[in-house]
Amino acid sequence: MARLELLKLSPGSSFGMTIQMREFQIGDREVIKEMVLEAENFGTPFLDHEMLRIDVYTAFPQLGKILMAFASENKEVLGYTAIQFDWRALVINSIITHHDHLREGVGSRMIEEVKEIGKKHTLVDVIRVDTGDFMEYSQQFYLSCGFERAGYVPHYLSWTNNQVIFVYQLSKQ
Ligand SMILES: CC(C)(COP(=O)(O)OP(=O)(O)OC[C@H]1O[C@@H](n2cnc3c(N)ncnc32)[C@H](O)[C@@H]1OP(=O)(O)O)[C@@H](O)C(=O)NCCC(=O)NCCS
Repeated sequence: MARLELLKLSPGSSFGMTIQMREFQIGDREVIKEMVLEAENFGTPFLDHEMLRIDVYTAFPQLGKILMAFASENKEVLGYTAIQFDWRALVINSIITHHDHLREGVGSRMIEEVKEIGKKHTLVDVIRVDTGDFMEYSQQFYLSCGFERAGYVPHYLSWTNNQVIFVYQLSKQ
């Protein structure tokens, strides 16, 4: 995989790091568990399903992929995203930035990588993701990454849950 680089200075600090992307390795399981448990609106109820998805995509890479963001300086894992190759669409199943590295450009770097994968995939036209209607921060995040709000689905994950759907159209030049 191409290791594209982005230098990001975190807002309000002189701290800087180079964010790179790579594919999941088996040794990433523990840090993924930690990220799921610590992330806002994730936690224990999501853990088993997230780990199962990792196992499935590892066994059947044609179904999906786990991508890891890391700091090139010390190889620290900064975040991960799980993407699914659906019919005509790339679906972001989950995206989590490590709780120590929020608002440092990690999430947008992961989205850039997903866009690159989508552009190279001949059958994929859009990237799709959904998020809870109460999760203002994640909606702001997807809008900032160029996604459009495409729909609102009441009772999507449970009777008490409503999801907002975002899409990004891939340009294929
Ligand atoms: C959503 C998430 C992945 C964003 O990751 P991140 O690495 O912090 O995002 P970035 O630093 O790339 O932010 C890019 C832009 O998104 C927007 N944004 C990100 N977090 C935001 C927040 N909490 N509130 C408002 N806008 C936000 C901002 O416009 C931000 O740019 P800025 O920092 O220059 O203002 C992260 O908040 C996260 O892991 N949350 C917990 C898990 C989760 O909810 N995932 C999404 C589930 S659908």
